Amino acid sequence: MLRRSKFNLTSLAARTWALVLALALFLLAPQAHALPTQTAWPPHSKSVRPQRPCFAQRNFNTISRIYNLTVYPNNVPIIQAGGAAVPRGLFSQDVVGRVDPVGNFTSFEDSIEYFFALAPLPTGNAAEAAITGYQITEFSSQCRDVASSVVYLYCSVWNPGQADHLKPLPPLKQVAFWRFDKHGAVLYYDAWIPNLNSWVQTTTAAYVGDAAYQAASIEQICGGTQARCTGANTQWNSTAECVAALSAKPYGTYDEAWGDNIVCRSIHLVLTQVRPDVHCPHVGPTGGGKCVDIAYPENYFSDEELYGQPAGETFMCK
Ligand SMILES: *[C@@H]1O[C@H](CO)[C@@H](O)[C@H](O)[C@H]1NC(C)=O
Ligand SMILES: *[C@@H]1O[C@H](CO)[C@@H](O)[C@H](O)[C@H]1NC(C)=O
Ligand SMILES: *[C@@H]1O[C@H](CO)[C@@H](O)[C@H](O)[C@H]1NC(C)=O
Repeated sequence: MLRRSKFNLTSLAARTWALVLALALFLLAPQAHALPTQTAWPPHSKSVRPQRPCFAQRNFNTISRIYNLTVYPNNVPIIQAGGAAVPRGLFSQDVVGRVDPVGNFTSFEDSIEYFFALAPLPTGNAAEAAITGYQITEFSSQCRDVASSVVYLYCSVWNPGQADHLKPLPPLKQVAFWRFDKHGAVLYYDAWIPNLNSWVQTTTAAYVGDAAYQAASIEQICGGTQARCTGANTQWNSTAECVAALSAKPYGTYDEAWGDNIVCRSIHLVLTQVRPDVHCPHVGPTGGGKCVDIAYPENYFSDEELYGQPAGETFMCK
């Protein structure tokens, strides 16, 4: 990934040596306000594109650091330790947001689990897929508190020592709006992953509507639930009971992962490894308030409830 990202930065930099300097500084000090200010530039670099304002660069760096943590294995410490492993300053403790078509996330832990714990682990999926790189392809921040971005999350097979290691898989795309608190940490986000179902199908070379695929995934969810949801978190009396109950539910699609279906449980099963007490009910018989059927408009349009502001105001520059 870094290779891909550097390639793009490099071709950009080739346009002018001043940007080469900027790139060198960026690579040396990626966390700082790395790009030189206009005044630091020699006089004949005037034709260079205007610098982003400081706040836009700050917001870009925050978003970039967030997506960088979805890259395997940067996400592993977060899967192991949850929010405690997330560097300070990226997300406000009060962060809330929504990621279509997966769900809304109404706390810091929920949000960081969505962003990082759901980034695929190569050992956790049949395709051995991992996010191995990212590129922010579109970015805009017209005021200090708001930004929008489009990111490509490049995926590959992760299978060290084998011939297919780093074989490219289809990328994921995420379109997002962000609002930052006064310290520059993300306070609200509204994001969308288009074509998630097609990504799953292309990556796994399987048809999600296929009966054998569905049966195998129900077996996997039930086996995983029984292994991780134990003691007070137990959901089912037996794997067989789980398989029978889930087989009677609609399978769902990854383009609509919000609902009392199997697709929703397959996503929340991943999160049971982070906080089983919170996520086991979501994969169990009732869906625990998360994998439940909601009438279409409510989940996608509950902006006032989610952000505590009138719809349409959260991501506007004041
Ligand atoms: C991305 O993560 C790698 C590995 O932790 C790190 O070396 C690099 O500085 C990070 N880049 C950004 C932009 O955060
Ligand atoms: C487990 O078995 C008990 C006793 O038969 C039953 O009451 C309960 O509903 C079962 N649990 C589930 C999740 O079906
Ligand atoms: C989050 O989504 C659920 C549906 O899954 C909905 O019932 C709930 O009202 C939403 N919460 C907020 C704060 O928007």
